[in-house]
This record gives sequence, structure tokens and C-alpha cells, in this order.
Amino acid sequence: MSRKKIALIGGGQIGGVLTQLIAQKQLGDVIMFDVVEDLPQGKTLDIAEAAKVNGYDVNVTGTNSYKDIAGSDIVIITAGIPRKPGMSRDDLLVTNAKIMKSVAEGVKENAPDAIVIIISNPLDAMVTLFKEASGFPVNRVMGQDGVLDSSRFASFIAWELGVSVKDINALVLGGHGDTMVPIVRYANVNGIPVMELLERKYNDKAKAEEVMNAMVERTKAAGGEVVKLLKTGSAFYSPAASAIQMAEAVLYDEKRLLSTCAYLDGEFGVKGYYVGVPAILGANGVEKVVEFTLNEEEQTLLNNSVNAVKKLVEDMKRLGL
Ligand code: APR
Repeated sequence: MSRKKIALIGGGQIGGVLTQLIAQKQLGDVIMFDVVEDLPQGKTLDIAEAAKVNGYDVNVTGTNSYKDIAGSDIVIITAGIPRKPGMSRDDLLVTNAKIMKSVAEGVKENAPDAIVIIISNPLDAMVTLFKEASGFPVNRVMGQDGVLDSSRFASFIAWELGVSVKDINALVLGGHGDTMVPIVRYANVNGIPVMELLERKYNDKAKAEEVMNAMVERTKAAGGEVVKLLKTGSAFYSPAASAIQMAEAVLYDEKRLLSTCAYLDGEFGVKGYYVGVPAILGANGVEKVVEFTLNEEEQTLLNNSVNAVKKLVEDMKRLGL
């Protein structure tokens, strides 16, 4: 069996960590594309030269020509600028939309059969733009948002309760922006509701709710918290790790149920937009969006988040992007 080929479009901070993870997990050969001359070649050469020490056999190379991504099974896109302190993801729209359009053309022309995972922000709008500009079927175009947002939510719960994060299940839905929706009702530690554990910890229902609210708000602002501390860019380890989990689900046909920026065709009452929802990921990409019943409050929050995504998509159209 020949090795899989994974193309990375964008060789910046996230692109570098993606390459390292793919090599260490031996998921396939990496071709890293970037518009900056020599950058992808230099970064991949550095990682390739650690192969002996780390014990991996995959090929890791860089290019400035889209032709080299031909035959890729998976394409992961990070091309675009990241946030600076004080910026929201939405502030990246104009610059990154222009970049995403050119990326979509390059991928369409050179890797027309690939499954595409997008990380560039503002995520939901960038995924929509890629889908429209490439004409790829919706099951082969997805975005990384919920895996990371859910991981952040799970981390805060684990730290609060003093238990391993491995035992936390915590789902975040909606757009990958300030309106995202952490689902509190189903957050659990190996099946035990987090709210019950908080109430027992504090012996006070109001205090438990206050602590949970703080974790929800921290989750929604978690990307910005990192940006504020880094000052020169945005999170890169955790977004890369999250996209790799999605890529593994596709490469190994795992049928994982992961929160994914997926195309909705009526599910959750949303039609024609990309939003973060639970989806089954396997060899065919997004194989199914998994619906479940939201209560009134959750549905209202989700609708609010969808409206924020719709507004961005409309802005993109209005600006001719
Ligand atoms: N084609 C390919 N690559 C491009 C293009 C383009 N048209 N334009 C810019 N790039 C490259 C840059 O040269 C840079 O190497 O994209 C890379 C982006 O890397 P960083 O600036 O380090 O950003 P990173 O932290 O990796 O984040 C990338 O992911 O999470 C999002 O908000 C984040 O939109 C940002 C993206």
C-alpha cells in the first residue's frame, strides 16, 4: 500500500506543527505549499532532518508551486493572516477571503479529489468561500472549529474538577466566533453530569452555575486569550492537533463523531450554511451530520450564532469577495 499524501496550504505557525504531527504519527507524506519563497522548503527541510532522531520514514517537502500537490488525499488549509491583540476573527475577513479564493483555485486544479480541512479564519466564512469557489461536494469540504472549542471547554472543566481531561465529554456547537455555543446540559465526566459534580463541590446551586458560566465565557473567548498573551499571532499547537484528529478520522475511516464545521441542509433548522455541528467523519469526509434535540435556550443561542455566520457570508458577497 502506498503512503497517503497530505498537502498543507500555508507554511506558517500552524503549518509547521501540522507537519511535525503528521511525520511523528506517520500519517503520510507531506507537501507544504506557501507563497513565500523558500519558507516551506526551509521549514520542511528542518523537520525532515529530525527524521533519524524521531524515527519517521515519511517524506516531508516544501514548494511554491501548486502542481506539487497533485494526487493529495487530504488538503489542510491554514493560508491567511492570524489575529493580533484586539482583533476578532471576523476582522480577518477581507484579507483572508482573497487568499482563500486563490487557494480554492489551486486546489481545484491540482488536487480535485482531495478531502479538504480548513483552519483559516473567520472559519465558517472561509469554508463557505472554499466550497463555492472550488465547486467541491459538501462532504469533501469541512472546517476545524468544534474539536478545538470542545477541547478548550473540556480543559477548563478538567482543571476545575481536578480530573483527567481524558474523562471529559464537552461539546461546542455553532460558528467559530464569539457566539459559539458550549452545550452545558450534556457536559459530563465519564457519564456523570458536570453540573451535578459542581453542585456537590460547592454545595450551592447558584455558585455551581456561576462557575459553569465563567467556563462557558472563557471557552468562547479562549482564542482571544491566547492572542492577547502571544501578542504576535494566534494559537497554533491546539488548532493543528485538532485538525490532525479530523484528518486521522478520514484517513483511517474511523466514523468519529466530532464537532465539525459542516454544511447544513436543514439540520438544526439551518439550510445552506456551514456551521459547527456534530458530524460523522470517515473515508468520505463528512459522512453525516448528527442531529439531536436542543432545548429552547440552546436553539436560541445556536440561531444567534448562525445569524453571525450568515452576516459574515453576506458581507463577503456584498464586498464582492
Ligand atoms: N497561499 C498560501 N499561503 C499563504 C497565502 C496564499 N495565498 N497567503 C499567505 N499565506 C501563508 C503565509 O505566508 C504564512 O506562512 O499563510 C501562512 C499563515 O501562517 P501564520 O501567519 O503563521 O498563521 P497561523 O498561525 O499558521 O494561522 C493561519 O489559521 O487559525 C487560523 O486565524 C488563523 O487565519 C489564520 C490561519
